[in-house]
Amino acid sequence: MKTRNYIVLTFASMIGIAMMTSCGGGNKTGSTDTQVTEEPAAAGPSAEQMALGEKIFKEKCIVCHQANGQGIPNVFPTLVGSDFLLNQKVLAVTQVLNGSLKVVANKTVKYPAPMPPQVGTHEEAVAAINYVLNNFGNKGGFITVEEVKNVPIDPR
Ligand code: HEC
Repeated sequence: MKTRNYIVLTFASMIGIAMMTSCGGGNKTGSTDTQVTEEPAAAGPSAEQMALGEKIFKEKCIVCHQANGQGIPNVFPTLVGSDFLLNQKVLAVTQVLNGSLKVVANKTVKYPAPMPPQVGTHEEAVAAINYVLNNFGNKGGFITVEEVKNVPIDPR
């Protein structure tokens, strides 16, 4: 009982100290904080969206496209420098939603099996595509949910 009270007290005073410190610090570094929040909103995908994209990649895409994004030659295409990914972003998102069977794109290689549908929401598909656009050496820019909001999601 005594030990528990002590722990609770210590914890409470730690929170107190933390709050005091952060208030004081906040005043001192006020100018730096303002600079950060004033960055343009369209600078790119949020950290949250990138984290979601990474999670989806590691749960789903990695099986075929491999941990380095390079796929397996003639079986699963590489995502590194992929012309389709980099230059046809809406179609890339569409393919993650509905699979590759019905996506008409400038594909140069015919793969033995199509890519199956991967996710069920525009948010998830955009997160996954923004993740692969900016990893494995790709610096492919990004796409917004707004840009793909009219892409129909096929029932399955
Ligand atoms: C079951 C295996 C498999 C999984 C899982 C998979 N893909 Fe694919 N992916 C393929 C195949 C096969 C193709 C080629 C399809 C075609 O061209 O018809 C492809 C093509 C692509 C392309 C186009 C690349 C190019 O240059 O043709 C992109 C982009 C892509 N996948 C992204 C993803 C993302 C992102 C995920 C995870 C959300 C994912 N894929 C999950 C098999 C898979």
